Amino acid sequence: MTFSNKILHWYSENKRSLPWRTTTDPYNIWLSEIMLQQTRVAQGTPYYIKFIKQFPTVYELAGAKEEEVLKLWQGLGYYSRARNLHFTAKKIVEEYNGHFPDTYEELLKLKGVGDYTASAIASISFNLPEPVVDGNVYRVLSRYFGVDIPINASRGISYFKDLARKVLSHECIRDYNQGIMEFGAMQCMPKKPLCISCPLNEQCVAFQTNSIEKYPVKLKKGDIRKRFFNYLVVLDDDGNTHLIKRTGKDIWQNLYEFPLLETLEEVNVNEVKERLPEILTLQEPKQVYQSSDKIIVHKLSHQHLHTKFWIVKTKDRLPNGLPAKELDKYPVPVLIEEFIKTLKNSYF
Ligand code: ADE
Repeated sequence: MTFSNKILHWYSENKRSLPWRTTTDPYNIWLSEIMLQQTRVAQGTPYYIKFIKQFPTVYELAGAKEEEVLKLWQGLGYYSRARNLHFTAKKIVEEYNGHFPDTYEELLKLKGVGDYTASAIASISFNLPEPVVDGNVYRVLSRYFGVDIPINASRGISYFKDLARKVLSHECIRDYNQGIMEFGAMQCMPKKPLCISCPLNEQCVAFQTNSIEKYPVKLKKGDIRKRFFNYLVVLDDDGNTHLIKRTGKDIWQNLYEFPLLETLEEVNVNEVKERLPEILTLQEPKQVYQSSDKIIVHKLSHQHLHTKFWIVKTKDRLPNGLPAKELDKYPVPVLIEEFIKTLKNSYF
């Protein structure tokens, strides 16, 4: 059985009957999902009931005074949620004719609606295959699939979103999304999860390797990821070089850089020569040497880039080679910009 089918099966047998589960109306789903952020179901439910009684539709909420909304919210905490709720209700009435938008992208534009809430409304109200990723989902996915990428680093956030999208159920997204969160809250809890009775335990990497408490991995404040960057600065006989645009979900999206060999640790000239063909397709024998014997440590908020620039001289004519004066036209990270300055002084 697939992961999503196991979740759906578990949910059909274990789901709680909760007041917002009898409807798919986006007003009710939006209200419940905003309330349940940073709040347990048991604590949020009475508030949801009070709100729906006082403001049965978005029109009543939009017509209320802010003070009335805040009074009703009293005790639930994170009061900006209540102010945004009121603001968005007014917007839905005034600009959307009382109807919530029906796509993830449009929902995301509403104040107080982030990736999680937009995905929840899109899937539960409009049956769209958008995966929700909240704290429960991080925990369940990281344990079941044994993923040790930190959930509070940008790499982890995009990894888990992709994984969640890969394993979701297209046929029953409403129940699947609610099911995985419910499973996280009731079976796969942070502390003392109910592994022995868990119907997913046979395939669960964390359970099978006796490492439940290791997951999900979180970066502690001050944890720094160390990376090793080797930039290959190709120079042909005409003094032309090469820049490449960075794509993907890593740092510096859409900025330019020299061809990059990233390694797991610091490497020497022989290792660079050996791995050169992974990055560059050059015909001619080449001379490879480090541009200076320093290693540059470029510090970002959660990672330190230990960087070496390698000069790779070639007799090839670079087909898309750039002369030095052209380099300034491209948007580059500061690390590259600083190097280009030294390059111009010594090579061009
Ligand atoms: N946590 C937040 N929203 C939820 C939902 N719709 N079902 C289960 N748990 C949730």
